[in-house]
Amino acid sequence: MKCRRCKKEAEVELRSHNAAFCRDCFLLFFYNQLNKAIKQFRMFTKKQRILLAVSGGKDSMSLWLALVELGYDVTALFVDLGISGFSELARKKVVAFSERFNAPLRVVDLKEEGIPIPEVVKKLKRPACAVCGRIKRYYFNMEGLRGGFDVLATGHNLDDETSRLFSNVLHWKMEYLEDQAPVLPDEDGLLRKVKPFFRLTEFEIAAYAFFKGIDYLTSGCPFSKGATFSSYKRHLNRIEYESPATKIDFYQGFLKNLRPLLKKKAKEELHHCRVCGYPTFGDVCFVCRLKGFE
Ligand code: AMP
Ligand code: FES
Ligand code: ZN
Repeated sequence: MKCRRCKKEAEVELRSHNAAFCRDCFLLFFYNQLNKAIKQFRMFTKKQRILLAVSGGKDSMSLWLALVELGYDVTALFVDLGISGFSELARKKVVAFSERFNAPLRVVDLKEEGIPIPEVVKKLKRPACAVCGRIKRYYFNMEGLRGGFDVLATGHNLDDETSRLFSNVLHWKMEYLEDQAPVLPDEDGLLRKVKPFFRLTEFEIAAYAFFKGIDYLTSGCPFSKGATFSSYKRHLNRIEYESPATKIDFYQGFLKNLRPLLKKKAKEELHHCRVCGYPTFGDVCFVCRLKGFE
């Protein structure tokens, strides 16, 4: 198979783009898709400060390198969840990346904050992922706002977005559909959020990480066995195999046809947490209550 661009021997076949590329041309394609996403949704400019949430996994580590290489002002934020055997490894990978590329990194350690995930889960007896997601979001926002960042980026990819969309449509979760987009504006004193990898698949990102020699964490979190939406990812991949480009069409179609019709319902009025100032419906926010403030 020959590269579509330069006719050298191809290394990657992308059926959804009806193309195959050699390594160099694949990298051009990859940056092109990323640039398209950033420009199409006016995610950020080179003058703005980006806080990128980095987990140590392939998506956020790849986005970190790609944004550094494209010359964006990016600082990574790693939240150490305090999950033994998992968080130490992830932290090592993130710190090693930061040293290797001389890229700024901030770390929040949930043990130091007094709320490591295993203890919180034991105490609340609630599914780990929901609680963990809420705590992570809290620190993404707090670090972003305190650090004066313009925007928060995450490593969500096309497979994440389409599997979530598929699940939300199958169950008609309108309130979740309203919150699904590559860009969420800042509101209630929370940071603007962007997903610059929404056009790129897990496979494409894995190829990028491999070509760039990124050392990322391959093991998953021990609390999220059978991770959310993974069965929907499998179903979508089967459809994609038979009809290439279905995933990107599904997502772009949603953005074009359904998304503009979804109007956000007015929420109950938010207050500011008495202890930390974070937006909350009550007097004290979720994280401050976990820390023992009432
Ligand atoms: P996940 O929900 O694990 O698929 O992660 C989605 C995105 O959230 C990742 O691509 C990262 O941008 C971010 N993220 C997840 N876990 C962490 C973490 N412990 N620290 C910082 N960012 C994270
Ligand atoms: Fe949060 Fe596993 S990453 S519970
Ligand atoms: Zn608070």
